[in-house]
Amino acid sequence: MAGRIPQSFIDDLLSRVDIVEVIERYVPLKKAGANHKACCPFHGEKTPSFSVSQPKQFYHCFGCGVSGNAISFLMEFDNMHFVDAIEYLADRAGLEVPRDAVTTVTPSQQGLYDALEACTEFYKQQLRNAPKAIEYLKQRGISGETAQRFDLGFSPDAWHALTENTNASETSLLQSGMLIRNDSGKTHDRFRNRIMYPIRDRRGRAIGFGGRVMDSSEPKYLNSPETPLFQKGRELYGLFELRRATRGSPERILVVEGYMDVIALAHTGIDVAVATLGTATSTDQVALLFRETDEIVFCFDGDAAGKKAAWRALNSALPCLKAGRDARFLFLPDGEDPDTLVKSLGPEKFMQNLIDNAIDAASFMFQQLELQAQKGTDQTSTGNKARLAEIAKPLISTIPAGVYRTLVEEQLNEKVGVTVFKETPKQQPAEQKRNYTQSTTSQSTGMSPIRKALIAILDTPSIVLEIDPEAYEFSIDIPGASLLLDVISVIESKPDITTSGVLERYRDTDQSEALHKLARAGMESTDESEIDTPLSLLHHAIEQLNKESLRMEIKQNTRELKAPSSMSDIQKDELRKRLKQLKKP
Ligand code: UTP
Ligand code: MN
Repeated sequence: MAGRIPQSFIDDLLSRVDIVEVIERYVPLKKAGANHKACCPFHGEKTPSFSVSQPKQFYHCFGCGVSGNAISFLMEFDNMHFVDAIEYLADRAGLEVPRDAVTTVTPSQQGLYDALEACTEFYKQQLRNAPKAIEYLKQRGISGETAQRFDLGFSPDAWHALTENTNASETSLLQSGMLIRNDSGKTHDRFRNRIMYPIRDRRGRAIGFGGRVMDSSEPKYLNSPETPLFQKGRELYGLFELRRATRGSPERILVVEGYMDVIALAHTGIDVAVATLGTATSTDQVALLFRETDEIVFCFDGDAAGKKAAWRALNSALPCLKAGRDARFLFLPDGEDPDTLVKSLGPEKFMQNLIDNAIDAASFMFQQLELQAQKGTDQTSTGNKARLAEIAKPLISTIPAGVYRTLVEEQLNEKVGVTVFKETPKQQPAEQKRNYTQSTTSQSTGMSPIRKALIAILDTPSIVLEIDPEAYEFSIDIPGASLLLDVISVIESKPDITTSGVLERYRDTDQSEALHKLARAGMESTDESEIDTPLSLLHHAIEQLNKESLRMEIKQNTRELKAPSSMSDIQKDELRKRLKQLKKP
């Protein structure tokens, strides 16, 4: 049986075919303004209301409401199956349709998510019936409530528990890494007799697991392998739980090394920690965290391995630094990890110690570079300085140009005693950002900001690239926000995608119909003369969303502070501080 057609091929195909040419073979089209028009082939009419947009690679009938891209047109008008339509278009474009090398039916990504969710539920239920696992967690100081919050579970000591007890198919369990196939072709459970930690993506979907033994046997942890859903360098353990707990942006996020550290900290009320997944911290991960906060504190062991991990984290963080942001480093006393330390100090002292002792990125960088420079052959102080300048330069150049980098460059000049970096001639024309606030003519009318944003984006997907990802400060709790962010990330990952390509990604999903409607709405309004540009519309919508989100958060925080609750004093304090911060204009 043929494998699945890769999404990337469909993307490329759509960027090569021209919808006007495709439709013209069936229906004569006439150019009218930016679009092409015809009498609608899908319903009888005398005046043309069928419109085809070349830039969007999208057709739409104002009369009967049909819409779609080249693939949809062939499917609807010529009754082709999806795969036939792709093959037809590929043929015309002179392309060969590639297939994923799979011999069995491939479960969709959704199938994999479903399988992992079923495993999570199964393991949770098993934990309830496993006294020794409950005993282990208790002895580590983890309450039932905390276990619940992280959806901790237990994998029974059995080889086929998942196939026998969940409704997930063997194929999807295999592909999501939950089963292992041995040499003789038989499958069995990867995780047995372990405490199970589901790893969730930002949106809360389980994408993998860590599993810990309950004694001192080896290996201590087993982890899911990388799968289509799970890439270790792009995910952070606890990020979803953090977002859910903090709503809005926390003052700082702690990056720790272990699952248990995240959980132990959360248990004491420090709900702002995440862990890397046994790999070095990547720039992707740092960037993800800076979407949530302006300060990241890496908590590492004080030993050589910890210093090395910190150095790699620093290198990953530099490309994300700018004024107003910082990455800081806290080195823990010998033999301690955040889990043991928070238990001995308590949460208040733990945080105080962190705030007092974490050093900022630039200081840590120079400290390490000076150590390195001293290892040079020329042991004079001039030799050291020259070497420092030499090794610092390439590193500093990875910091984005701006105030922050200038300050670091100045620090280097001072240390070396000569000008390594010349003062840059004035600031470059501050990133071509325009002032959108004045143009609010037709924007502010009744439409919801999510709708507005999606209409603008579906009109001209590339406008997303002009928005600083930082600008999205709104909470995903706003209805529709997660779809909006999803669409944005689709475009960010394929910058030249057209409206047609975006819609294609949502074929056969629940959102498809809604997105088509919004794309049509965009086409209907293009005739109005004094409409705002899509970019200004998007800016305005984001501004509205951020405000709405802020209002929601203030309301929620106020309510929580007033309610008699189980919040610890430190949590209340944090909340009060946050509230004060929010209310600042
Ligand atoms: P730690 O040994 O510090 O884990 O390893 P921990 O979470 O503090 O565990 P406890 O306190 O002993 O229960 C840090 C991280 O390294 C990865 C895991 O992600 C772990 O959380 N690791 C460690 C593995 O993947 N496999 C191992 O065998 C050990
Ligand atoms: Mn530990």
